[in-house]
Amino acid sequence: MSIPSSDTTACVYIALDDRSYDIRIAPGVLDAPASWQGLPRGASAVVVTNETVAPLYLERCRQQLRAHYARVDAVVLPDGEQHKDWDSLNRIVDHLLATAADRKTVLVALGGGVIGDLTGFAAAIYMRGVPFVQVPTTLLAQVDSSVGGKTAINHPRGKNMIGAFYQPARVIADLDTLDSLPARELSAGLAEVIKYGPIADPDFLLWIEANLDALLARDKAALAHAVKRSCEIKAWVVGQDERESGLRAILNFGHTFGHAIETGLGYGEWLHGEAVGCGMVLASELSVRLGLMPPDFVTRMQRLVARAGLPVLAPRLGLDRYLALMRVDKKSESGEIRFVLIDGLGRATMRGAPDELVAQVLAAHSESKA
Ligand code: NAD
Ligand code: GLY
Repeated sequence: MSIPSSDTTACVYIALDDRSYDIRIAPGVLDAPASWQGLPRGASAVVVTNETVAPLYLERCRQQLRAHYARVDAVVLPDGEQHKDWDSLNRIVDHLLATAADRKTVLVALGGGVIGDLTGFAAAIYMRGVPFVQVPTTLLAQVDSSVGGKTAINHPRGKNMIGAFYQPARVIADLDTLDSLPARELSAGLAEVIKYGPIADPDFLLWIEANLDALLARDKAALAHAVKRSCEIKAWVVGQDERESGLRAILNFGHTFGHAIETGLGYGEWLHGEAVGCGMVLASELSVRLGLMPPDFVTRMQRLVARAGLPVLAPRLGLDRYLALMRVDKKSESGEIRFVLIDGLGRATMRGAPDELVAQVLAAHSESKA
């Protein structure tokens, strides 16, 4: 498929009628006044962030916002996937009500995917919807979670099970914020970069393979291309299927196994990107066992995922537990688990698989018992 690309601009446009917006991608965009111009008007803005990100970037963000809003507050949440829950959501809503935030109050999500998903969901439900801006500060959030309007919190029984589709007014992705990201988190973000290759763009997969060392070394030019191309592919998908009635599910390659790993181990044990990395290896194996891909595809994916610093062996939760967890996945229909599989490089499909085949896949790619 031919997905538009431009080498001259660091701005990717999400075309969704009256919900369209820009993703501004470059080093330094957080501190550039132009990044903040033209946002929805209102008397106040509330930055939602966490205890790790606040000392790094909150003041700089507030400084830019003060040029546009008379009042700029902050809600600083505890850090971690285990806090993507009702409690954190309540803390945001409590703050908004306690400060008499109105319908024009703009929420600003400053942080990774956890903060982005939580803030977006709060924006979707507060007074039935207030504007929000995404300022993603992890690679994962810059290439995926800040774009496309999926917002959610987790439930102990299932990942992202409570949420809404709600688009931001803008995404401001400052590549310089990736300098402070721990190496493990950078690797987690690479999982979502890698996924775009097999599902949509074989040339991008080749590019990632050739430039992985530069990405791991945080080379800005390499990161800029990875973030931009990922966002272009996501924009292309979301522009056609905003609410996941079909095509958008391809963005969940590796996520059916991955979400089961995250929920099964307890949120925060494995990072989301780590679970997705391993999940892509399992989904690749399933694609091969269903005859959709040649066997060397698994080797190729396994090698790339491992090179990115991500796990390739699944934790031993037991087949029954995996199946039970995967049945709660949002793609399941009438209790049938549906996997995103690769059906020719650059093309994804969604289908079910017999339990015996899933068992074989897990047996072939699980951690040893010891
Ligand atoms: P995260 O939000 O937990 O951030 C990872 C860690 O990095 C956290 O400890 C955070 O405090 C820290 N951090 C953030 N920015 C930093 C920086 N610049 N410097 C230093 N530390 C920094 O995790 P994530 O990987 O960004 O996001 C994962 C979440 O995103 C999951 O909940 C997942 O379900 C969700 N997600 C959503 C979508 C979507 O479409 N909405 C897509 C993919 C993933
Ligand atoms: N991250 C999957 C999606 O946005 O659809």
